Amino acid sequence: MMLLSGRRRRLTVLSRENRFHPLKAILTTQHTMHFTLRQLSIFEAVARHLSYTQAATELHLTQPAVSMQIRQLEANLGLPLFEQLGKKIYLTEAGREMYHYSRAIAQQLQEVEEVFAELKGVKRGRLAISVASTANYFAARLLAAFCKQYQNITFNLDVTNRERLLRQLENNERDLAIMGQPPEEMDLIGESFMENPLVVIAAPEHPLAQRRTIPLEELVRQDFVVREPGSGTRIAVERFLAEHQLALSTSIELTRDEAIKQAVAAGLGLGIVSIHTLDLELSTGTLVLLSVESFPILRHWYIVHRRGKRLSPIALAFKDFVLSQAMNIWPQGARLVRAASSALQAAS
Ligand code: PGA
Repeated sequence: MMLLSGRRRRLTVLSRENRFHPLKAILTTQHTMHFTLRQLSIFEAVARHLSYTQAATELHLTQPAVSMQIRQLEANLGLPLFEQLGKKIYLTEAGREMYHYSRAIAQQLQEVEEVFAELKGVKRGRLAISVASTANYFAARLLAAFCKQYQNITFNLDVTNRERLLRQLENNERDLAIMGQPPEEMDLIGESFMENPLVVIAAPEHPLAQRRTIPLEELVRQDFVVREPGSGTRIAVERFLAEHQLALSTSIELTRDEAIKQAVAAGLGLGIVSIHTLDLELSTGTLVLLSVESFPILRHWYIVHRRGKRLSPIALAFKDFVLSQAMNIWPQGARLVRAASSALQAAS
């Protein structure tokens, strides 16, 4: 037998060269080894106390029951784990190896129990959420407030447009999503928690900025900066105009609300966005709301998941949190909704 210091090297060499080494027997017979976690934990207790009687007391078992489990374990492994000299028992070499692994396994099992206890108590967990890009203006605040209540939570947050987000839900890649109304043809559960009016924005110096009531027919003749196909905002605008047998004539496409606001402020055209993207611009006056007939387009924000998905305790807690707390955590949301409806009143 070669004398090698590292455990891994020793295992490799012995299993190849020493046919009588106990560990070799364990390694070579591992495909037929059968033992239960229960036997392992009984062995661990006996080995720790070096006494069947003390192990039996600790485990609330009889001493014969403990000996029988150890005998079965030894039979399954094909090697003795203990030897008796006089009144005392000692670990054999195989027993010492087994003790090393059984302690590590016992430790891991304990961790599993703790983790599950915590998960049941919603103390920790991992949550995969997708947020429609437009909702990102408030979603980060919801997550921050939730994290204050539930520390040790890890989030995986993806900000993307409606089309990609629906695909993620369909592929069961996310626990929850925050988005506009989910499509009926998909097997999703969506609960609404906040209004989401879409409004028309312009640079303050735009000729329509001072007009009191702008007819839809006049609106659609303007230049527009719009979101990309696949955006929920874009789909809602097109559907709304189609209901009035109208469509936008000229438009530049941009993939982010942030880019749309910049382009509109720079005078590239008008934009139609969620009021919830406009907190900063309305307070600084870099953009204004137009008073357009039939506006705002009334939508809602939803928290969504696949029907039949088994939500983890943490996902359920987050869903409840959003439904009950969103309006308190982000009061700007309600203020902006009021701003949007006064634009509507001015137009009617
Ligand atoms: P959007 O999402 O960012 O894709 O426009 C909003 C929505 O889902 O309605």
